[in-house]
Amino acid sequence: MTRIQAIRGTKDLLGDELARWRFLEETVRAVAERSGYEEIRTPIFESTDLFSRSIGTDTDIVQKEMYTFPDRKGRSLTLRPEGTASVVRAFLENHLARERPIAKVYYIGPMFRYERPQKGRFRQFHQFGTEVLGPEDAFYDAETIAVFHSILGSVGLGDLTVRLGSVGDESCRPAYVERLSAYLRGRREDLSEISRERLERNPLRVLDSKEEEDRAVVREAPSILEDLCDSCAKHLDEVRRALDRAGIPHALDAGLVRGLDYYTRTVFEIHHDRLGAQSALGGGGRYDRLAEDLGGPRTPGVGFSAGMERIVSVAEELAIRWEMPRELRILVAPLSERASEEVLPILLRLRARWRADGSARPRNLKTVLKQANREGAGLLLLLGGEESAPGSALVKRLDSGEQENILLDRLEERIEEIASRIAAPGAARKE
Ligand code: HAM
Repeated sequence: MTRIQAIRGTKDLLGDELARWRFLEETVRAVAERSGYEEIRTPIFESTDLFSRSIGTDTDIVQKEMYTFPDRKGRSLTLRPEGTASVVRAFLENHLARERPIAKVYYIGPMFRYERPQKGRFRQFHQFGTEVLGPEDAFYDAETIAVFHSILGSVGLGDLTVRLGSVGDESCRPAYVERLSAYLRGRREDLSEISRERLERNPLRVLDSKEEEDRAVVREAPSILEDLCDSCAKHLDEVRRALDRAGIPHALDAGLVRGLDYYTRTVFEIHHDRLGAQSALGGGGRYDRLAEDLGGPRTPGVGFSAGMERIVSVAEELAIRWEMPRELRILVAPLSERASEEVLPILLRLRARWRADGSARPRNLKTVLKQANREGAGLLLLLGGEESAPGSALVKRLDSGEQENILLDRLEERIEEIASRIAAPGAARKE
């Protein structure tokens, strides 16, 4: 029989790689919570309409990348391709605006896009991100970028490029779209077929084209930054000044087009050179009309999402060591049949305070020591055999080899004492 394999574009996470993921997740939680964000968890699938109305019907995501299927009653559902739309839906549905004028939330979880898998691009991938709903101030655009920047800094990533742009708002974008359309129509013959189609429906999307032949046309296209209305230009200027004051270098990028249609004003991405073609670690921006587009009251918002696979892969390439302080691990090993019966009750006692594992059957000392080293145990507790007297255990420190017999009656007390002498419990994880 053929063996069933994981779906293309998905992967299993385990072992050392998973330890990196957990480190990243812990860092995200710590930085986000310190910055006043609360966690939110939304469902993995939603009505298809939620995504087509927010991300935009002419985007690549909605046109060809969504995992959409009918449920048993024929309703169209979609595995979430991103998190922002769900967060805004949840904000409206749970009336969060009633509780507070400003909602700051963060999320971590899997997203799904049917893209061609390659380095840094998967079909099930993971994002973490933040969203601020309520305020319009440029302060929050800058804070969003700063939080993303400090998460990356906290996991040891430097050499970051922050690209910043603006896509204007309803008062200045239409005039720009007119100017862009006129330009693109003039160069119609040079455009790819798909861009010619998009030119009629949503000319801005042409700027996001991945087709080689469109590149020159896009490069020479008029810039929206020249057409911003006074309030959008002022907003962009305020974001830039706030970033300057916060010491976050950034480059203005007139051609920054994001793959989602819900943005107004600020858009940004953070890139790392090591990633090659898929160089964006993440991106985001402001979406002041999204809540209304989803049937709610006007609620400005701003946020970012980052690709976790990409961050883990850069850290791996740069050989950055991600280590969590490891708790003391204790391995309990019986050296005789009789002592085997003691293992579980002792493990249960130890587990009330430490991380402890044990073997079910007696094995020789050499095998036990090998296992203890492999598992990174800090202490070995040997029961029975010649090594320990009845009612006692031999406790061996794996780092120094020091050992002593301790009475089982005083087990926790003695281990506490020994553990306090072990400088770095569990020692550093081997790379
Ligand atoms: P996005 O630019 O579509 O924005 O995705 C953000 C990040 O997710 C990308 O920069 C990339 O690192 C990662 N990513 C996207 N697709 C894949 C994939 N197929 N495989 C691996 N990683 C991927 C958003 O999703 C918006 N929700 C950002 C946002 C939040 N805007 C406002 N708030």
